[in-house]
Amino acid sequence: MHRAAVLGTGSCLPERILTNNELEQMVDTSDEWISSRTGIRTRRIAGSGEQNYQLASSAACKALEAADISAAEVDLIIVATMTPHMIMPSCACFVQAEIGAENAFAFDLNAACSGYLYGLDLADKYISGRPEMKVLVIGSETLSARVNWQDRNTCILFGDGAGACVIGGSDHRGIVDSRLFSDGRLWKLLYMDSPASRNPDLSDPDRKGCFIQMTGRDVFKYAVRAMENAVTSLLDRQHISIDEVTLLIPHQANVRILGKLMDRLGVEQEKVFINVDKYGNTSAASIPIALDEANRQGRLQQGDLVLFCSFGGGFTWGSMLMRW
Ligand code: ACO
Repeated sequence: MHRAAVLGTGSCLPERILTNNELEQMVDTSDEWISSRTGIRTRRIAGSGEQNYQLASSAACKALEAADISAAEVDLIIVATMTPHMIMPSCACFVQAEIGAENAFAFDLNAACSGYLYGLDLADKYISGRPEMKVLVIGSETLSARVNWQDRNTCILFGDGAGACVIGGSDHRGIVDSRLFSDGRLWKLLYMDSPASRNPDLSDPDRKGCFIQMTGRDVFKYAVRAMENAVTSLLDRQHISIDEVTLLIPHQANVRILGKLMDRLGVEQEKVFINVDKYGNTSAASIPIALDEANRQGRLQQGDLVLFCSFGGGFTWGSMLMRW
């Protein structure tokens, strides 16, 4: 059976770097508080010419170049995002136009920080039916536009960026298995309202505008437990020990969540790719950005087993195992 394999990776980060010291000037916080609680030191902030679809398109072009595939050969574009610059058309349609992928169909997918794994899983389903397909799976976010810069609980956490993979069929490598989960009952712990909605159900005075709202401690607890379960149940199903995994690429939420997760899984730090210190939490973009960096740093060799896991608003979470 053909599975979805990565043929090339790319990423794009905005130029502007926002440091913790700069945040000290904006809200009542400190570099020491942010670093010790989250491990985040800098994040990137999108400026003019760096809208979501532009970051996504740039990441996609780099992935296509790495895969040696032209835009015209792309059959499908999936953009995982919760911060499209417009509700309609989708970010994916803007990417299609920007890169000239005239033979593709294109749509967005919103599963918050788990969007990239959901997108890869979907690509795998398409590829299993039509192995000759070439699919661009992109994770791209401009969260800085949806963060309340007066709320110190959230504004320190997030950043902007995009990552992409070209996916194609292979009979000897690619996605081995995945486990995806959601629990919509817990949505109030982490959400972002729609901008300027006239829906009477959304005029609740408790809701505080279209910014990210979060109950941090609860999110922390659920995130660790959920990612641990997603990983262990996947490895059990495949009869694979964590020791056989070459690299774990988790959603880059923050280093304390990742530290707890590593402890519970019994995985050494050298086997875990972490770049949240540089980029903060870029939601759906965090896994493909990390994968592109790991790939370009030569951390992955053919035949390696790569493990992914994620957790985000919804709640949504999941894990995926891939033979590189
Ligand atoms: N600077 C200084 N003080 C702050 C800041 C800040 N930026 N933010 C909050 N505080 C204060 C709080 O007001 C509180 O003060 P109080 O005791 O006087 O009320 C104190 O610090 C402790 O607040 P807590 O929320 O209890 O701090 P905690 O140790 O839980 O850390 C954090 C907060 C970092 C948000 C943590 O809960 C966390 O990591 N949660 C997960 C959040 C996350 O990653 N969300 C991303 C989306 S989901 C995902 O990607 C997995």
